[in-house]
Amino acid sequence: MQPPIDLRSDTVTHPTERMRDAIRRAEVGDDVYGEDPTVNRLQELAAGLLGKEVGLFMPTGTMSNLVALLTHCQRGDEVILGDEAHILHSEVSGYTLGGLSARPVPNGRGFPDLQAVEAAIRPPSLYGPRTGLLCLENTHNRCGGTVVSPQQMAAAGALARRSNLPLHVDGARIFNAALAQGVPAADLARDATSISFCFSKGLSAPAGSILLGDRAFIERARRTRRMVGGGMRQVGVLAAAALVALAEMVDRLAEDHAHARLLAERLAPLPGLELDLDTVQTNIVAFRFTVANLSPEAFMARLRERGVLISAHAGRRLRAVTHHGIERAHVLRAAEVFEAVLGELALPSAAAPLR
Ligand SMILES: Cc1ncc(COP(=O)(O)O)c(C=O)c1O
Repeated sequence: MQPPIDLRSDTVTHPTERMRDAIRRAEVGDDVYGEDPTVNRLQELAAGLLGKEVGLFMPTGTMSNLVALLTHCQRGDEVILGDEAHILHSEVSGYTLGGLSARPVPNGRGFPDLQAVEAAIRPPSLYGPRTGLLCLENTHNRCGGTVVSPQQMAAAGALARRSNLPLHVDGARIFNAALAQGVPAADLARDATSISFCFSKGLSAPAGSILLGDRAFIERARRTRRMVGGGMRQVGVLAAAALVALAEMVDRLAEDHAHARLLAERLAPLPGLELDLDTVQTNIVAFRFTVANLSPEAFMARLRERGVLISAHAGRRLRAVTHHGIERAHVLRAAEVFEAVLGELALPSAAAPLR
């Protein structure tokens, strides 16, 4: 039997042969002492690429975000973020570990309305929480991999500076955002006080993320990372794979974008799916399953029986993600399977789509 076409996430990617070789040969040291040469090299390289002073290697994107929030904020602070933010929905409210609360604002298509953000910033008061941080996400996962532009970043940065607030960017897929807009990743990081990105998504490394900012912030973040148990030792074995990811896996993300577009164009006309092609900007295809008399879970199970795996965001919102290992032929086959499964539902007469 053929292996399934796995479009659940770009996190399912496996390390390449070159990464496995690099892992085997990696020079290592104790990174809690700052003595792992491969980690140090990775941190310097990533900081240079994003135009930040210093980087701090992390086991996961979730820990990068958590450490950023705990380092920027004090107990009792409120964090302003979009109401579809990964930090809000998919990181088990880790910010509560620091006594922080979330202040969601309408997310738009991945970039919140700055008037709503400004209105959510609290004036100093004896009674209310202090606004401690503004968070953005680029690309925006739950909004379908949409990008935030350098101009939007500049406007958000200006608001944050005016309001004396740090700005953290969850840039798990920042190279997808940069590539899609034809700009250097540093242009998307310039206005951020801190930014994180992941090696283990489209870049295909087995694990790892990095948090970047100025020296004083990263020194404090290093203590926070230790506090939450993220101080790793001979972790150059992972940094070695991440170095290969940066050298060899960034430019090829364009293929994933082209494949996502192809898939989206095939799925958009199908009855029972609602898909806005304007949101397909990188490697994520987000859509709604609108057939009233079949649950999204049952629909996904039918796709799975025919060898296509996708995932659910929430309710009827589903998602397919392209990545290394998904070729054009897989995309065409997946689109055929969608068509066949939806065809069996005899739409639109037997089952009216939900609107
Ligand atoms: C936007 C975004 N931020 C953060 C993360 C967290 O990364 P990790 O799963 O490595 O903790 C993800 C993971 O999918 C993500 O999509």
